[in-house]
Amino acid sequence: MQTFRDVPALRSAVAALKSDGRVALVPTMGALHDGHIALVEEARRQADHVVVSIFVNPRQFGVNEDLDSYPRREAKDAQMLQAAGVDILWAPTVEVMYPQGYATNISLSGVTEGLDGAARPGHFDGVATVVTKLFNQVQPDIALFGEKDYQQLTVIRRMVRDLDLPVEIMGVATQRAEDGLALSSRNAYLSEEERHNALALPRALGEAARQMEKGATVDAAIAKAIAMLAAHGFDPIDYVSLCDAETLEPMAALDRPARLLGAAKLGRTRLIDNIAVNPA
Ligand code: PAJ
Repeated sequence: MQTFRDVPALRSAVAALKSDGRVALVPTMGALHDGHIALVEEARRQADHVVVSIFVNPRQFGVNEDLDSYPRREAKDAQMLQAAGVDILWAPTVEVMYPQGYATNISLSGVTEGLDGAARPGHFDGVATVVTKLFNQVQPDIALFGEKDYQQLTVIRRMVRDLDLPVEIMGVATQRAEDGLALSSRNAYLSEEERHNALALPRALGEAARQMEKGATVDAAIAKAIAMLAAHGFDPIDYVSLCDAETLEPMAALDRPARLLGAAKLGRTRLIDNIAVNPA
């Protein structure tokens, strides 16, 4: 595996790979876990060569968020990627990504406005901007994103369609710990007690989804999920919301394929999760 930190060197290495096959990109912010590795494994099935980017993107963190404390451990990440068969690690510095005088922003309306977009103003502009840059730097044939960040995946799909970006987008199912908690770099912040209580998030969403599928009203099922989260110490609960699986528009009744999404804080750690909900 080769590691690059500047665009010209990356471009010539990727050009060489592209001359003999399809190239996949897996964008990450590092502190890698089995969820990231599942994306790499799917990338290897989908393409001949795999590029993984690690860049903790300052533009997608809010002022009171965890940019400074976000876990950084590139040496261990590089070992994991090498073992997973990755060809290129693209690890630019902040100065390479956003040189002095950088002035351009990619901003989407609609799909960025609710859920995490409401709770984290500017977050998805930061994501859309850096992902556009990563696509232009690497020029992959396909890029893979996790369903764990379902709104992010929806935003990227919208942006690629809107801007005619020549890249295929593939979503990969959420990877979970044995007990059901979605794997996340931020789980490292949880104390032992919080790690135990964190399970209430997938359980509350799963239980609410089952109730809705059996005919409970959306409002009643969501109220129960919120009560369960509060009972396990989640505070604040940013949202538990049933949304159209494609557009993420809020739904008052389960009349088409949907996604139940939740976000809440446990101590200083903000957790998100989501689950498919389908009408009978
Ligand atoms: P990061 O949180 O590092 O996640 C990188 C990719 O891994 C994302 O596509 C995310 O959805 C996926 N992922 C994380 N946990 C997962 C899990 N448990 N199962 C499946 N996939 C999982 O998301 C970002 O970084 C950034 O916003 C980024 C897209 C890199 C732009 O900066």
